[in-house]
Amino acid sequence: MEHTEVCKVKNLKELISELRRIFSDDSINVEEVQALMESYESNPEDWNEYAVFDQYRYTRNLVDEGNGKFNLIILCWGEGHGSSIHDHTDSHCFMKILQGNLKETLFEWPACPKAEMVKKSERVLKENRCAYINDSIGLHRVENPSHTESAISLHLYSPPFETCQTFDQRTGHKNRVKMTFWTKYGVKTPCTIAASQENN
Ligand code: SIN
Repeated sequence: MEHTEVCKVKNLKELISELRRIFSDDSINVEEVQALMESYESNPEDWNEYAVFDQYRYTRNLVDEGNGKFNLIILCWGEGHGSSIHDHTDSHCFMKILQGNLKETLFEWPACPKAEMVKKSERVLKENRCAYINDSIGLHRVENPSHTESAISLHLYSPPFETCQTFDQRTGHKNRVKMTFWTKYGVKTPCTIAASQENN
C-alpha cells in the first residue's frame, strides 16, 4: 500500500498552520490531509482549553476558521453520547480521535420512502486515527460507545457549513438542522436554539 508522505507536526498549533497552508490551494488531496491529521500525536495540553463538555449531549467547540476554507472543531462526547445519522452538505469531513474511542456507523442514502435505512458498515476508531467521509461515501452516525469514559475528537469540515440533514433510521425521513457551537475559541457561546433542532 502506498503512503502519502507528510511532515510530522509537533503540536496542534503546527497542525493548524500546516492545514492552513494545504487548504490555501483550491484542490485538496484527501490522503494528504488524513495523513497529516494522523501525524499529530494527541496531547491534552494543546487542546484542553477547547474541550468543554455538556452533561446531556455532545458539544461542538470551534478551534479555527482556516482562513475561511475550513472549520476545525473539537467535539466532546460524554459517556453514551451520539449524533443523529447525518450528511455533510457536500463538504469533506475529517475526524481524528484525540481521546477515547468513537464508533462510526455508515448508512446508505435512503432509496425508498418510509423504509428502514440500510447500514453499510461500522467500526471503532481509536486514539490518533483519522477517518474521512463525504456525501458520495454515504451518511454516518458517530457515538461514544463507552458508558464509563468520555471521548474527544477533532473534526475538519471544508468548505465550512452551518446546516446539515439528519435522518430517521426507521423511516429515512430527513430534516435540515442548524449546527451550533458550544464554545468558540474556548469561550462559551450564548444558547440561541432549542436542542431538538440540532444534530445531537
Ligand atoms: C460528524 O459529522 O462527524 C460529527 C457531527 C458534528 O459535526 O456535529
